[in-house]
Amino acid sequence: MQIQTTSLKTLLPSFIFLLLISCTDTDLTKGIIIDTVTVEYLDNPLGIDNPTPRISWVMSSKGKNKKQSAYRIKVATSEEALEKESGLLWDSGKLISDQNSQIRYAGTLLKSGQSCYFKIKIWDENDVESDWSETGFWTMGLLNEQDWKAKWIGFKTEDNDPKDPLHLPAAPYLRKPFSVQGKIKRASLYVTSLGVFEMSLNGKRIGDDLLAPGWSDYNKRIYYKTYDVSDHLDQGKNALGGILGDGWYAGYVGPKELSNPRNRELYGLHPALLCQLEIEYEDGKKETIVSDESWKASKGPLVYADLLMGAGYNANLELTGWNTSDYDDQNWANVYLHEGTEGMLQAYPGNSIQPYDELEPVEINQPKKGIYVFNLGQNFAGHARLKVRGDKNDTIVLRYGERLHPDGSLMTENLRFARATDTYILKGEGMEEWEPKFTYHGFQYVEVTGLKNKPDKNTITGIAFGSSIPMVSSFTSSDETLNRMFENVIWTQRSNFMEVPTDSPQRDERLGWLGDVQIFSKSALYNATLGAFNAKWFADVRDAQYDFGPYSTFAPRPYPELVWYSPGWMEAGIMVPYNTYKFYKDTKIVKDHYDSMTQFMDYHIEKSKEHKFYPENSWTEVNPKGGFGDWLSMTDKNLAHDIMASMYYQYALKSMAEMSATIGKKEKADYYLTTYNTSVAAFIDHYLDGNGKFIIDETAYGDGAGYFEGEKGFTGHTQSAYATAIYFDILPDDLKEKAGKHLVKLLEENNNLPSSGILGIRQLLPALSAIGRSDLAYQIVLKKDYPSWGFQVKHGATTIWERWNSYTPENGFNGEMNAKMNSFNHYAFGAFSQFLFSDMAGINTEDAGFKHIIIRPELGDRSLSNVHGEYGSINGKIVSTWSVKESTFTLDVEIPVNTRAKVYVPSLEDNTVLEGGGTINSELIQFVKQKGAYKIYEVGSGSYRFQSRI
Ligand code: BGC
Repeated sequence: MQIQTTSLKTLLPSFIFLLLISCTDTDLTKGIIIDTVTVEYLDNPLGIDNPTPRISWVMSSKGKNKKQSAYRIKVATSEEALEKESGLLWDSGKLISDQNSQIRYAGTLLKSGQSCYFKIKIWDENDVESDWSETGFWTMGLLNEQDWKAKWIGFKTEDNDPKDPLHLPAAPYLRKPFSVQGKIKRASLYVTSLGVFEMSLNGKRIGDDLLAPGWSDYNKRIYYKTYDVSDHLDQGKNALGGILGDGWYAGYVGPKELSNPRNRELYGLHPALLCQLEIEYEDGKKETIVSDESWKASKGPLVYADLLMGAGYNANLELTGWNTSDYDDQNWANVYLHEGTEGMLQAYPGNSIQPYDELEPVEINQPKKGIYVFNLGQNFAGHARLKVRGDKNDTIVLRYGERLHPDGSLMTENLRFARATDTYILKGEGMEEWEPKFTYHGFQYVEVTGLKNKPDKNTITGIAFGSSIPMVSSFTSSDETLNRMFENVIWTQRSNFMEVPTDSPQRDERLGWLGDVQIFSKSALYNATLGAFNAKWFADVRDAQYDFGPYSTFAPRPYPELVWYSPGWMEAGIMVPYNTYKFYKDTKIVKDHYDSMTQFMDYHIEKSKEHKFYPENSWTEVNPKGGFGDWLSMTDKNLAHDIMASMYYQYALKSMAEMSATIGKKEKADYYLTTYNTSVAAFIDHYLDGNGKFIIDETAYGDGAGYFEGEKGFTGHTQSAYATAIYFDILPDDLKEKAGKHLVKLLEENNNLPSSGILGIRQLLPALSAIGRSDLAYQIVLKKDYPSWGFQVKHGATTIWERWNSYTPENGFNGEMNAKMNSFNHYAFGAFSQFLFSDMAGINTEDAGFKHIIIRPELGDRSLSNVHGEYGSINGKIVSTWSVKESTFTLDVEIPVNTRAKVYVPSLEDNTVLEGGGTINSELIQFVKQKGAYKIYEVGSGSYRFQSRI
């Protein structure tokens, strides 16, 4: 007995220790942790106006097969209230649900300016409760029109240089002193402008947004931004300051020929400011400082500032201390009350433009005496920071370009009407540092003239900026060129997701071309969290839609009179919302956009009512005839526009059917599906012969007059036609197979190089996978011959080019074409990159929202020995990494908590698959079936390593 007790006593500590370890193992390390919480896709957003904002969270766990079975959300007016559970705005209670995204706030009605602090906890599959998440928050904006007490104010300025043929007025500086008495609880600044603004309080800049409040159709809606300025205020005297730029409202925007005669002032003549500072004191008192006629204004050192043309700064005109309370503004003028806009004031729903990188020069050359060219090693959008020493009135001129001429001089011909020139006039007081405002350029090179001293690497720094969208992907492989191609796509996306998805960042264009956006949309969604950015742009798309149904070729459309639409471009109004829905299961986007989409489909259905599809020469009313077609393709003859128009229409019908069903509109869903089936049947009957070949009546196009490059003639038999039919899954199996053979044959005849233009390029590689020829897709994507993406990399591309032949060693920048239309930073052809994720790494979603994931890598022609793809989905990180060593295939996957995945492991029928180095644990991993050369397994969350012989 005694002995036993003693031994028990001695054993007890180790027993407890073991117990602790196993507890830790099961309960703590394998529990679920809530990692991130977001509201309307944003991190702690300020000033939102959705009355029932949507909350989402991402979880992680070291365990496997972890699921959420219930959640609880608490929302309170302050952090303390949340802790003490007093003043709760919402307590959802424990709700049995596996939903972890897009959960609508369902508490007390939220008021203007309301602060909302929230936290979440969840229960796992065994009803084990998690810890509370970190506290997140959001604040509400000004929800009612009456909340706005501010008035639109402005100050008209003259041009600094009357000899300049461009009209470039000086930027107005506006100020308002005021005083604060009492302990401040919170102070919020609500601010917007017609044009762009930069605000400061007591000399300190507010926020780091650039070009705010961004671009919208200001006649229909104007967005305001909200900033928390509680820490900026002083007791006693304070001063608010604002600088205005012409921006998209009054400055130069878009291609010169579209905006004749003045090329500027597309929405209004002069910029204006509207702002309201709301101060809440600890004692409950409130005070509001607004923009009104009491503000003072002056010209200042920013002598011009224009999006396309550049910015000029004369440091000798600095108004030292202008935005502080002690400044003497006696000589300042009064502001005037600006006419403002009829547009609705709404909270900014997107991702503001912000800086994200700084680039050091990789070389400095001097092609001519006194002309220095800085190479930043990367093409991007942003501006340069200048650091310079010199004498008073020395003038430094910065010009920007994407490429160099063979003699080392800056190539600027492709900028067309965009002057892209910044000027700085020194005050001559030691080291001076300057960054331009209210402009941006697309460039890799900066030419600097006017320097007195030899520059060094610190003279110029590249500041890269764009919409602050969370970037969530990574891709690497055993092919360095392919890796660079992916980097090029990322840089191109970041350069062009500038408030709206633009085509280019450098020339006088920078418009939200719908064709480019739809083709690149899935690639973009793999790379970044676009829920907020896209929702903002869809409002632009609706605002630019024509009353009779079509979506405009670009959105926003700053030319109210312009009627311009094109098949393949306008379907972006359906396809981009559809893709966004698929990635995030965001039904709000579908609902908000639904009436507009219905109107668009009605137009298409009406237009095609005679034949149910588009026979040859159906689009003579648009400009150019037929629309833009397979723009910038490399085929001898044009792909008949009507084939593409029909298939894009059909794909839109199919997408509409699915979106209608998802929001409970069953009748509509059936209607679109029936219309789709009828259309496809008639289309096949007309355009495809029994061998699955596209045949057209060429005579229907006459001499091609009115069509873009119509003299080349027309055909139905191109890579893009077959790739589109296969990718949109329009053909029945037998025809699909036959069409596939034509595609393969056409590729063979073209040395396995692409000939597609921007309407077909996205489809090409996945279509080859779909017909079991990913080997060919690999060959194409890994090519370095002309025309290919690898060719671009070989010739120094660090972003995606607009054209296959933007540059060739034989023809340089291709003569006249360069000055007409040539961009080295254009994402449309970057649409190949969705293939890297959807096919190479094989990350897909079975349903909407990556809840049921598919990992199905295509190994292609086995020319890659490894591929790593990673995508940060709305449910968390999904990883697919594979390698082939001799005949061993290894696939590492990571599946987020609360999701399941079907993993396709390449393995022939009789071969075995291992997991984690041993036999498959069938409790955790279910074998689904053998499908062709794959074994399919179903897994829950966690990390797995599959190995097979191939
Ligand atoms: C743009 C394109 C656009 C095209 C339409 C070009 O100027 O840069 O990307 O889709 O026009 O034809």
